[in-house]
Amino acid sequence: MSKQVTVIIDGHKINAPEGEKLLWVALENGIFIPNLCAIKEKKHPSGSCRLCYVQVEGRSKPVTSCTLPVKEGLAVQTRSPQVDRLVKSAFELLLSNHRLDCRNCPKRKGCALLQIARERGLKMKLSRLEPLEQEVAVDESLKTFAFDRSLCVLCGRCVWICREVAKVGALGFTHRGISRRVSTFQDLSLAESPCTECGLCVEACPSGALYFKR
Ligand code: SF4
Ligand code: SF4
Ligand code: FES
Repeated sequence: MSKQVTVIIDGHKINAPEGEKLLWVALENGIFIPNLCAIKEKKHPSGSCRLCYVQVEGRSKPVTSCTLPVKEGLAVQTRSPQVDRLVKSAFELLLSNHRLDCRNCPKRKGCALLQIARERGLKMKLSRLEPLEQEVAVDESLKTFAFDRSLCVLCGRCVWICREVAKVGALGFTHRGISRRVSTFQDLSLAESPCTECGLCVEACPSGALYFKR
């Protein structure tokens, strides 16, 4: 069993296993930190969504909590002017690549983006960035679920789950920069891919990009 340490989050003293990432310690103790790309079982977090910043006592710059191992005496604040600025920018960047159509979204009840916006008082619209063009057809080739890439926020959860848990590897990232996207090998439809329709990726998707057909 790992050694227990005491950390302080927003002034609350919390016991946690040494080395656990701060994000999970906070969430498991009812303290909200925005996050999209983190998966607890993933040994090496990608730290790609840049939403989980916290301010660490003694450090000038905020750090991502999904990559921050806890140790005795670690003290953090989940909010600071710097943290709020970084989270706001990262959130707007995500939205710029996400077709905003909450009313018709299949995940509107469990959407992680809406939850983050609510918790942090962020707007579900762009103020400084222009939306990126999202003219992509929905992949409805499977019986049980569909993939609407225009709602994908590139968190990578589906890619990891499909490879590491389902042990299939039907999904992956392709292209670079602003063209980066989740796709099947050679951009085939899901029905032509090795996908077994286990549905694990759909359950892991925090947006409406992967959704069960009803
Ligand atoms: S449903 Fe298909 S794509 Fe999704 S995790 Fe399972 S095998 Fe992979
Ligand atoms: S499809 Fe969903 S789980 Fe996969 S990268 Fe996009 S938002 Fe994340
Ligand atoms: S949850 Fe930490 S960077 Fe995405």
